[in-house]
Amino acid sequence: MFGMAIKQIRIRKFKESDSAMLAHMFEDFQDSIASTDDLHELARKVKVARSGYGMIYLKNKLMEIRRNRGIFYVAETSEEKIVGFVIAVVRELTKIDRIEQKRPMITGEITELYVDKSQRGRGLGKKLMKEAEAFLRSKRCGYARLWVFEPNRRARDFYRRIGYRDRNILMRKQL
Ligand SMILES: CC(C)(COP(=O)(O)OP(=O)(O)OC[C@H]1O[C@@H](n2cnc3c(N)ncnc32)[C@H](O)[C@@H]1OP(=O)(O)O)[C@@H](O)C(=O)NCCC(=O)NCCS
Repeated sequence: MFGMAIKQIRIRKFKESDSAMLAHMFEDFQDSIASTDDLHELARKVKVARSGYGMIYLKNKLMEIRRNRGIFYVAETSEEKIVGFVIAVVRELTKIDRIEQKRPMITGEITELYVDKSQRGRGLGKKLMKEAEAFLRSKRCGYARLWVFEPNRRARDFYRRIGYRDRNILMRKQL
């Protein structure tokens, strides 16, 4: 299947009327993460969609953006179909950060990044990340950071490709 040329896709801020489309996309997003889960602990789309997950997740994200000087960009085709999104928030320095760090710097966090299956591998993820990073720079963030699911190889390779390096590792043991 052929996707749309990247030039015909524009990046703009999220608006209220995007909600229903975005709620669906958060469910696709969850499903794509679950599909990488080698331990099969994460729920797939059928269960997730039945629960109203997409809308709950969206509301939660909008609150987080409001509270943390964040941004929500969507990628839209000329037919007004949303085919990707990115969310970034500012993590303010705490008193402890100021003591622990030699040169304290505010950090931005990319909390969500998603590109529709039909549009992957043609530069849209990179474009969304560039916009999010520019926003964080404008908020005086010295770094951008993000969490990534360990089995999600595609995303990890992608982030490495655009300059991200492992810094913290979450370890877990079954009890
Ligand atoms: C991860 C994701 C956002 C990447 O978006 P994308 O639009 O497919 O990536 P791009 O086309 O912008 O790729 C940018 C660069 O990464 C490289 N890249 C992309 N996928 C890659 C892969 N699987 N392996 C190696 N490199 C890859 C591209 O070759 C490109 O490099 P180049 O500019 O030097 O040619 C997308 O695959 C996605 O939405 N996945 C599902 C959701 C997800 O996992 N989100 C991240 C959760 S933390």
